[in-house]
Amino acid sequence: MGKDVIVACDFASAAQTFAFLDCFTQEKPFVKIGMELFYAEGPSIVRELKARGHKIFLDLKLHDIPNTLKKSMVVLSRLDVDICNLHAGGTIPMMKAALEGLTREDGSRPLLIAVTQLTSTDQETMERDLLIRAPIDEVVMHYALNAKAAGLDGVVCSPLEAKKVHKTCGASFLTVTPGVRFADGDTGDQKRVMTPAQAKEVGADYIVVGRPITAAADPVAAYRRCVREFVDC
Ligand code: C5P
Repeated sequence: MGKDVIVACDFASAAQTFAFLDCFTQEKPFVKIGMELFYAEGPSIVRELKARGHKIFLDLKLHDIPNTLKKSMVVLSRLDVDICNLHAGGTIPMMKAALEGLTREDGSRPLLIAVTQLTSTDQETMERDLLIRAPIDEVVMHYALNAKAAGLDGVVCSPLEAKKVHKTCGASFLTVTPGVRFADGDTGDQKRVMTPAQAKEVGADYIVVGRPITAAADPVAAYRRCVREFVDC
């Protein structure tokens, strides 16, 4: 899989998701299914989107003891998603167990990426609530290196961290970056943003874009603009 735009389908139901995706008559966007939609609809939403020809990033951010992660990943491997994820904070043994569970008998598996520190966590919260006293960018790189040591394929990170992650973990270690906005668009609640073109410039492998596409007056035009800026230019 090469560079691509992943559309965050942050909808509450399958009906809303299909109504949105039905606007796309010429392309089949790579889609992200998050907890809200997955918990509302269950595995059938994954099967239906797969049957419609979409690639899927299942964003469930798993975090539990290694044995539970392993068993959960066995189940997800059968769903045939393209990317799934977990929290690097679960430590290397948990990530290794997850990877083992995700790998099918024939050796194939979806890509597995790690969330480092959530972008909603800042230095102050991390120190106060988690008692982690290192600078947050060091923590993010340390977690990324842990994910690499466990054999994972990459991390979810801010586009502002993508370059450093590649420098630290290697060019082939994937960076999947939310926090993308058009230069002339509304940033909403995202604090640290980049345009699709800037995300491309810093070497992000996938951008995850929600509201700039889903809430656009013309979602298909907004999606095409993202692809043009991030993939084609
Ligand atoms: O609408 P917007 O473009 O902000 O959507 C970004 C998507 O990426 C949402 O689904 C959000 O939950 C997800 N995400 C994020 N920041 C992270 C991890 C995931 O915005 N650190």
